[in-house]
Amino acid sequence: MTILVFDSGVGGLSVMREARMLMHDQPFVYVGDDAGFPYGEWAEEALTERITGLFETLMAEFEPDLAIIACNTASTLIMPALRARFNIPFVGIVPAIKPAAARTASGLISVLATPGTVKRRYTLDLIEQHASNVSVTLVGATKLARLAEEHLQGVEIDTHVLRSEIAPCFIEKDGKRTDIVTLGCTHYPFLVNEMRKLAPWPVDWLDPAEAVARQALRELHRTQGSEESDSNGVRTIQHDVAVMTSVSPEMSTTRLLAGLGLKTEALHFPSISTCSRSA
Ligand code: DGL
Repeated sequence: MTILVFDSGVGGLSVMREARMLMHDQPFVYVGDDAGFPYGEWAEEALTERITGLFETLMAEFEPDLAIIACNTASTLIMPALRARFNIPFVGIVPAIKPAAARTASGLISVLATPGTVKRRYTLDLIEQHASNVSVTLVGATKLARLAEEHLQGVEIDTHVLRSEIAPCFIEKDGKRTDIVTLGCTHYPFLVNEMRKLAPWPVDWLDPAEAVARQALRELHRTQGSEESDSNGVRTIQHDVAVMTSVSPEMSTTRLLAGLGLKTEALHFPSISTCSRSA
């Protein structure tokens, strides 16, 4: 059963590491749309078109049995389109607003995510449905995903930028303080140790990656047995594979992926040449 994990870059590795722990006997294909990174400021229609276009190629090439959209910016937008178009289970990741609202003691929580995720209808609905009794601060960070990419590639973190990006999460009101920050972007767990050091006071940093991996495992069990695989014309995966959408991914990226046991393979995406990021 092939599991495909998708993100705009290498952030989705924070979800894949959890998924691999739970499903270590399954082959994984990691896909990073580095040619489209960052997703945070893409127009919604253009992003939907881009990702469904990429999946046309990915489905034909790998015939995954399950796909994890390890990107909040994408998951809060395109799950209905993917599910309508392709006949496999899709598991997405969205900001952990419900658990944060249930757990907060101060009644002040913050959602740290990309500008795209914080303005999505889906995110606002999550707040309306599950967090109407708490105060939610939405923080759309413009520089964090790139900072995480660079950090993973070995570049030193600019602590001034990191501090100013997380600062709006910390609210003091009526003698109470924010006590939970949800990490609403899969890139951010790679920065969380630094964030802890730079935070003005200690908070819980919620990362839903493990819950998403568990959900994927449940979907896999549901799918297993109910499918006969016809592998005609489809790559048989001998080892875990990574595919980046740029023609020549950064050397540091392929080195990082190799260190995680992922062999980077080239794949041509015909849809990329026809799409642009503004609607
Ligand atoms: N990792 C992605 C997310 O979870 C977004 C990063 C980006 O492309 O801006 O939202």
